[in-house]
Amino acid sequence: MKILRTRKELTDFAARCRAAGSSVALVPTMGALHAGHLSLMNRAVADNDVVIASVFVNPTQFNDKADLEAYPRTEQADFELLDKAGVTAVFAPDADEMYPPSEAGKPAHVFDLGEVAEVMEGMYRPGHFQGVAQIVSMLLRLVGPDRAYFGEKDFQQIAVIRRMTATEGINVEIIGCPICREADGLAMSSRNVRLDATQRATAPGIYRVLSESTEYSRTHTLDQTRAYVENAVNALPECRVEYFSIVDAETLREAADWECAPRIVGCITVYCGQVRLIDNITYRPIAK
Ligand code: PAJ
Repeated sequence: MKILRTRKELTDFAARCRAAGSSVALVPTMGALHAGHLSLMNRAVADNDVVIASVFVNPTQFNDKADLEAYPRTEQADFELLDKAGVTAVFAPDADEMYPPSEAGKPAHVFDLGEVAEVMEGMYRPGHFQGVAQIVSMLLRLVGPDRAYFGEKDFQQIAVIRRMTATEGINVEIIGCPICREADGLAMSSRNVRLDATQRATAPGIYRVLSESTEYSRTHTLDQTRAYVENAVNALPECRVEYFSIVDAETLREAADWECAPRIVGCITVYCGQVRLIDNITYRPIAK
C-alpha cells in the first residue's frame, strides 16, 4: 500500500490511476479504524480497481476543541488494517498540508447545504457540516473518484454530502453502507474506547431500545414511539438523550406519520457520561 502525505502526491497518484483506465474509489476517514470503517474498505475494494483511503482528523468539523484533542490517533495500526483490507493507497496529510497557515486569513467558502444540514446535528453541532463539506469536497476534487463510500451510522452526513456534491457540481457516485455493530449491538465508533466499563456495559441499551421501538411502532403512533425511545434511553444509567428525531430518510424532515415517506429513520444522539454517541434505525423499509 502506498502512503501519500501531500496533496500533490495524491493528485498525481489518482491521475495516473485514472489515465490507466482504472475505476477509482475514495473512502474518507478520521482514522482510529474499526470494523465499521473496514466494511467500507471491503465494499470499495470489491467494486473498484483502485481504492484510496484517507486518514485525517479534520479540525474544521470539530465545534468542540476538547473533542478534537481527545480524538484517538492510531496511525500505524490504521495503515496495517488498510493494507490488509487491500486498499491501494492511503492519504494521511498533516493539518498544515490541508489548511496551509499562509491561507489562514482567507474567508472560508460557505457551502450551500440546504435544509438537510440545518436539522439534528446541524442544530447541535453548529459549523460541523460546513467543515465536513470543506474537507470532503477537497478530497473529492483532489482524487476525482468514480465512487465515494460513507457509512449510514452518520446518516445525516451522507445526505449532506449528496447535497454538497450536487450544488458544487462534483461528479461522483455516493455509496451509503450499512451500520456495523459490536456483538452486543453497540454501533461501532472510534469514540467507544472513551467509554468506561460501566458506560460500555450500558451503551448497547441504546440499540436495544431502538430495535424494540420498531416493534412498538407497529401498534403506536409516531409521537408515542418517540416518547418510548426517549424515556427508555434516558432510563439507562449515565445516558442522556440529546435529541431523537424520526425523519423522512430523504429530506430529513420530521415525519408526520408512519405513511409519509417510503423510508422513515429514527436518529438519536446520546451522551453516555461525557461521550457523545450517535445511532439510527429504519422504521419503514425502502419501497421496492
Ligand atoms: P469517521 O468518523 O472516521 O468515519 C469514516 C466513515 O466510516 C464515515 O463514512 C462513517 O459513517 C463510517 N463509519 C463509522 N462508523 C461506522 C459503523 N459503525 N458502521 C459503518 N460505517 C461506519 O465520518 C467521518 O470520519 C468524517 O466526517 C469524514 C467523512 C472522514 C470527513 O472528515
